[in-house]
Amino acid sequence: MDKKVFDILNTQINKEMYSAYLYLDMANFYSQNALDGFAHWYEVQANEEMEHAMKIYHYLLANGQKVTLEAIAKPDKTYKEFIEPVEAAYEHEQYVTSLIMDCFKTAREVDDIRTMRFLGWFIDEQGEEEENASSILDKIKLFGDDKKALYSLDKELGQRQ
Ligand code: FEO
Repeated sequence: MDKKVFDILNTQINKEMYSAYLYLDMANFYSQNALDGFAHWYEVQANEEMEHAMKIYHYLLANGQKVTLEAIAKPDKTYKEFIEPVEAAYEHEQYVTSLIMDCFKTAREVDDIRTMRFLGWFIDEQGEEEENASSILDKIKLFGDDKKALYSLDKELGQRQ
């Protein structure tokens, strides 16, 4: 594997683990504010992010690479309003999409077709992640000020498998 491709994928493991940490911190915020459905949704999201990291980790190992695990940054956002984590999550997913595209472009530069195919899954996944994040943002913008509606939205988010 080309070193540039390895480096960017190895870094992406860290970015995905950081994403897990960021979402766990959002779950933590909602738990402290009795919105257990929101908390559940972001906990599930944190688990998904760890799965993303593990997918890349196993891909690198399967390609004979020596993975280096770097320190995971502390999530440094503080939230006051219930909408703030939802906004931050949508922005974060757009950022992660740009990172995945950078991984893809790096693989394409060196004709690493296997890695390009591997990243196809992540490109599709990012489409879904952005859509999910933006749909919750739309709903909380519409209903967030109405306590009963917020309660229903919390129930809905609590159903995530
Ligand atoms: Fe692993 Fe939410 O992107």
